[in-house]
Amino acid sequence: MPKFKIETWGCQMNEYDSQKMVGLLKQNGFTQTESEEEAEVFILNTCSVREKAVHKIHSRVGVLKKRYGEGKIVGICGCVASQEGRALMEKIPYLKFVLGTRSTHLIAKAVNRAMNGLKFLDSNDHKIEMDAPVTFAERTGKTKAYISIIEGCDNFCTYCVVPFTRGREHSRPLSIILNEVRDAVENQGIHEIELLGQNVNSYDYEGKGFADVLEVVSNQPDVQRVRFLTSHPKDFNERLVRVIAAHDNICPTIHLPMQSGSDRILKKMGRQYTRSDYLDKIKMIRDILPECWISSDFIVGFPGEEESDFLDTMDVIQSVKYDNLFSFKYSPRPRTAALKLRDTLVSDSIASSRLSVLQHTQEQIQLNKHLAMINHVYPVLIESFSKKNPKRLTGRTEGNHVVHFEAGRAAQLIGSIVDVRIETVTMASLKARLL
Ligand code: SAH
Ligand code: SF4
Ligand code: F3S
Repeated sequence: MPKFKIETWGCQMNEYDSQKMVGLLKQNGFTQTESEEEAEVFILNTCSVREKAVHKIHSRVGVLKKRYGEGKIVGICGCVASQEGRALMEKIPYLKFVLGTRSTHLIAKAVNRAMNGLKFLDSNDHKIEMDAPVTFAERTGKTKAYISIIEGCDNFCTYCVVPFTRGREHSRPLSIILNEVRDAVENQGIHEIELLGQNVNSYDYEGKGFADVLEVVSNQPDVQRVRFLTSHPKDFNERLVRVIAAHDNICPTIHLPMQSGSDRILKKMGRQYTRSDYLDKIKMIRDILPECWISSDFIVGFPGEEESDFLDTMDVIQSVKYDNLFSFKYSPRPRTAALKLRDTLVSDSIASSRLSVLQHTQEQIQLNKHLAMINHVYPVLIESFSKKNPKRLTGRTEGNHVVHFEAGRAAQLIGSIVDVRIETVTMASLKARLL
């Protein structure tokens, strides 16, 4: 049986696409391996959100070519494949196949052709296939099932490449989503569901919105935890927060990317909300859900960002006190509108120093938040044995904190929820005692 190795970069949607490709390849008689030597086929599932991510992929292809030459089959899937399509195949003739984000169902065909010496390219917009039920994703050893509810993005934030790599928004039928939830719970024994979309709040299928999806998924028997990613602040509404509040199994964990605290920059980014719209939504969330966990994404160094704009961002970070934060230096991306802005570019050294100020501040905030959790009890869904210490288990709180604790009697409980008391903390994780 031919062996393949899949390497995944990027977001949860890409991880999920990789799980689907692994499942399909296994159904078609291939075997997965983690060993580079053993693998005959390499599938690189790529991200192009920032330039650095794309560089990493090019250098990975370079390494494989140098190490193995024509001895291995190497193909690219995912966002770089969608964005560059045929040009990528022409630029790197070494590649045997290129499959866009909406062509991953063709993976077995692509690999089979490559094994017969034929190249394969497909970056078409296969909408019908997106609605087919996914009961083949490889979730072995996983305690959480990703389920995609809406793919693509129509927002065209001026810095972002995703609308060009993931295409136009397409909501999947609610009945199919529910089938996939039932399959994960009943056939695979998975009790945590994470609903995915570039903008889950834009879900719109036969009059049903995202709050409806969340409600029916959480009402399914044996679904112990429901999470979702990502919410765009412009469509994030009170009804959704009320649905979260009304269902114990929906984690009160909200990722609400703000990108900048400055109205001037938000406008240039095309985010369609103001600083005060955003802060009003944070207040609304905390009024309805006093115990919730909020995280965000920020970009520093967007063209035209001045020190005062950056201070506006820092002011939001200091006042909101996020539970977790993902922050990036602006990276110019092909085809995006920000490339045409006439504003002065922010130098790399200024962007780097802004990023480090932001990250340092967040580390302090996060550490203080973790310190306040000491001696409190939290339910944790056990995910696996700890990678560093096999006597320890690792799980996650509802707020997505990574928690380590001694295995004891809980070893056989991977996949279930237990109560733990937090004992010591760092910025990145928590140590606890099983109750
Ligand atoms: N759909 C999500 C974001 C997906 S991309 C949303 O709208 O929030 C994930 C994060 O990458 C973004 O939130 C943004 O902070 C960052 N990002 C996207 N494009 C970027 C770019 N060109 N440079 C730097 N960071 C970027
Ligand atoms: Fe990118 Fe904006 Fe769409 Fe998010 S909403 S994926 S940042 S274009
Ligand atoms: Fe990257 Fe594509 Fe996700 S660009 S962040 S893998 S949608």
